[in-house]
Formats: sequence, C-alpha cells, structure tokens
Amino acid sequence: MSVPRPAAVIVLAAGEGTRMKSRTPKVLHELCGRALVDHMLGAARGLRPERLIVVVGHARERVEAHLAESAPDVLTVVQSRQNGTGHAVRTVLEAVGTINGTVLVTYGDTPLLREETLRELVERHAGDGNAVTVLTAVVPDPTGYGRIIRDSTGAVLEIVEEKDATPEQRAVAEMNSGVYAFDGLLLADAVKRVGVANAQGEEYLTDVLSILREDGHRVGAHIAADYVEVEGVNDRVQLSFARRVLNDRILRDHMRAGVTIVDPSSTWIDAGVVIEPDAVIHPDTQLHGATSVGAGAAIGPASTLTDTVVGEDAVVRNAVCEGAEIGAQASVGPYAYLRPGTRLGRKGKIGTYVETKNASIGEGSKVPHLTYVGDATIGSGSNIGAACVFVNYDGVEKHHTVVGDHARVGSDNMLVAPVRVGDGAYTAAGSVITNDVPPGAMAVARGRQRNIEGWVTRRRAGTSSAEAARLALAAQEEAGQE
Ligand code: UD1
Ligand code: CA
Repeated sequence: MSVPRPAAVIVLAAGEGTRMKSRTPKVLHELCGRALVDHMLGAARGLRPERLIVVVGHARERVEAHLAESAPDVLTVVQSRQNGTGHAVRTVLEAVGTINGTVLVTYGDTPLLREETLRELVERHAGDGNAVTVLTAVVPDPTGYGRIIRDSTGAVLEIVEEKDATPEQRAVAEMNSGVYAFDGLLLADAVKRVGVANAQGEEYLTDVLSILREDGHRVGAHIAADYVEVEGVNDRVQLSFARRVLNDRILRDHMRAGVTIVDPSSTWIDAGVVIEPDAVIHPDTQLHGATSVGAGAAIGPASTLTDTVVGEDAVVRNAVCEGAEIGAQASVGPYAYLRPGTRLGRKGKIGTYVETKNASIGEGSKVPHLTYVGDATIGSGSNIGAACVFVNYDGVEKHHTVVGDHARVGSDNMLVAPVRVGDGAYTAAGSVITNDVPPGAMAVARGRQRNIEGWVTRRRAGTSSAEAARLALAAQEEAGQE
C-alpha cells in the first residue's frame, strides 16, 4: 500500500540532554557512523515528506552547523526557551505557517525507529481518518513516560505524564513514544490552545490529543510491534544499547545479502558501508564511513577500515586503513597502517609492519616488510626490500619519490626525496639514495667495507669472542695445511 506523502516531518531536538553529561549536544552523539539525529532523519526521508524540519535550541549553533553539512534538505527552527513539546511544535508553526496535510512529529534521539514503523503509523492514520494517531508501545517498565489512557472500549482518551498521573494511571504499561501523525490544520488550531496547568508548567504536545478528542475528532493509536524502536537515548547506557541493536540490524542485512560475518559480537559496521557477496569479515573488525568491500575479499581479523575501498578477492589482515584504495587480489598486513592517499594496485602487497601515506603502489608491486612509504609513486612489478624508508620530510616540506616499473630497491634503503629510481633499476642493500638512478642502473650508496684482521684477538683478549676467533682461525689453518 502506498502511503500519502507527509506534508512535513518535525523532529524535536531542542532539549539539552543533561543525562549524557557531555560537551556534545545529545543528538550529535554518534552511533554506527551517524549522529543520533541523522538516523531519525534517514528514517523520515524514506517517507518522502515535502518538508523536513528540525527544532533546535540547546547548543543550536553546533546542531545547525552539523545539519548544514549532513542534512542540507532540513529546515531548522529555533526554540530559544524549551517550554515543552507543545511549545516546540507551536514555535515551528509560527515560523513556517500552518502546514496543510499530514504532519509527523518525532524526536531526534530515537535512532532505532525504523522507516517501516513510521510508514505503518501514517497508514493507520490515513486509513482510520484520524485527526491524530499516536505511536505507542507496551513496555516492561513505563517509568518516566507518558501513559496512554483508554476507555472501556479501548478508545484513546488522553495521554497523562508520569508526574501528573494517578497511581492507577501509572500502572498502565502502554507508553507514549512521542511520535505522532497529525492532521496539519487541526494541529495548528489545537496547539494554540494547550495550557501549562500541569506538574512541569510546560506546554505538553500530548494535550493536543484530548483537545482534538473533546472537539469531536477521531484520535487513534498505533502500537509498535517492537518497543525497542521507540526507546530514546537519554544517557550513555542507552546509547550503547542502541548502538548494539543498530549494529545487529546492519550485520543481519549484510549476512542476508551474502556476506559472511564470522563473529557478529565483535564486528562493527557503520550504516552505509557497502559489502559485496562472498566477502568474509573476520572477528574484531570495524568498517567505518564510506568503506566498501568487493566480492570475495577477506577483511580481518582485527582490522579497522575507514573510508577505504577494497577490491574483489583482496585480503586485509590486522590492519588500520584510512582513506585507502586496495586493488583486487591485493594483500595487506598482517600489521599494516595505510593512511590517506594510499593506492595499492591489483595483486599488490603491503606487508608486515609497513606504513604508507599518499602513496601509489602499482599493479603487482610489493612492499613486504618493515617499511615507511610516504609521498611516493611506485610503478608496477617493483619490489621494495625490507626496512626501507621513503624519506619525505626535510623538516620543513614534504617531497615526492618516484620508483619506476620492475625496479628492485634493496633492503634497508633510504630514498631521500625528491628522488627517482628509474624503470628496471636496482639499488644495493643499505644504500642512502640521494641522486636519481637511471633506468637499468645499479646504485650503490654506502660505505665500503673494511676488515681489520686480528682486531678482536688484540683488543678484546680473554673474551669469549677472542677465544671463538682463535679456535676458528686454528681450524682454518689446519684445513689449509691438509
Ligand atoms: C515526552 C512526552 C511523553 C513521552 C516521552 C517519550 C510530552 C509532554 N511528554 O516526555 O508523553 O512518553 O516524551 O520519550 O510530550 N523537546 C524540545 N523542546 C522542548 C521540550 C522537548 O525540542 O521544549 C524535545 C527534546 O529535545 C526531546 C523531545 O522533545 O527530544 C522530548 O522531550 P523530553 O523532555 O525528553 O520529553 P519527556 O518529558 O521525556
Ligand atoms: Ca525523553
């Protein structure tokens, strides 16, 4: 069934969220790669509302700056004094005018609320021809929530806040989620008539229900199938709970789409990460931001990838990768750190204890052991020996190194940038390369070895080394005489 497109979704997010005990406004706390408010906006957007409105107040500069980046389709309305949920909605309607059509009201701190549930609410609202339909849930412990008061026929009479409730009303387990679908015209009229004669002296949006019912309009409720969806995040215990629930949903979606996740309990994947079928995610792995993983690739164990693109059938083990591109069938780790601007070609290798940054490593090229590659371009089919440093920093500026195709850089080299090693060139182990190496040349840039015969026997007489040397020399002499 196609649901009518809401005229607006109003997301209330002006409150302070004191229980977070945080410098960061509550709705900007992150889970699964997105701020709380962005999860709500994502679900709301699924209903294609004509307008998305967020009410801001506490720390509004920060919330507005965030929304300008993450949600440019959102209109923000400032509620400078947080005088209740009814006041928040009234402030919006005073700012934008009466909204004709279905108006959904939600909160910025309910990241588990799914698009499907919002859709069900709108369907129920439209199907029953209600003036207002409230999303409710039956919860094990309704303490703190507004209670849904029904008459003997089950019709919704009113919502009573905990602080205003009688003991019998407090015993009701059906709570108000704070999410509603309203008829916009009726809402605009009723919200002006909400008073402040209650325990908190605030304008309660919940009063709109009884006002509309007393006016003779239809008031309905939709009970959420899973109460977990309507639980808000008010402190960091609830934040971690919501993160776990969201992460489980994300992992389940990937597994159903053909991704193997070996240990869901230690795997964290942000909303928006793309993983192709037959990829395998090993334990203790986190995939963040705009990361994507190609078909058949294996990631982990113990790897953290942020904004990283992994090609088909690549293998990434015990690695931290940020802003990197890893080619198909390439191999990374164990124990590698790929920093932004790393591009590893098809079948390439970044091995153990290797750090790379702003480095393009061509097809089939290998940087297998104990090496730093910063600000470099390495062609295809080249090999960098163990323990090399691409010396990119002169203390003031960064410089670039180029290694051509099919080059062989010896072990323990320093390539002092800016410098070029030509196609097919070799460098000797232990070289400090400060001058360009022409194609096909062998560069030797190290001190010549000098052996001082008999030094240990003379200068370290009586040591075990001197004794070992004496025995070896004697054996040599004997062998020479035979
Ligand atoms: C509200 C409901 C309660 C419901 C509960 C669900 C009212 C009177 N009560 O209670 O029935 O069970 O939500 O969580 O509506 N906000 C503003 N401006 C304000 C006040 C609040 O933007 O002036 C925002 C807050 O940032 C928050 C949301 O509205 O996101 C709810 O506010 P909160 O104070 O938590 O409402 P409750 O008293 O918990
Ligand atoms: Ca609340």
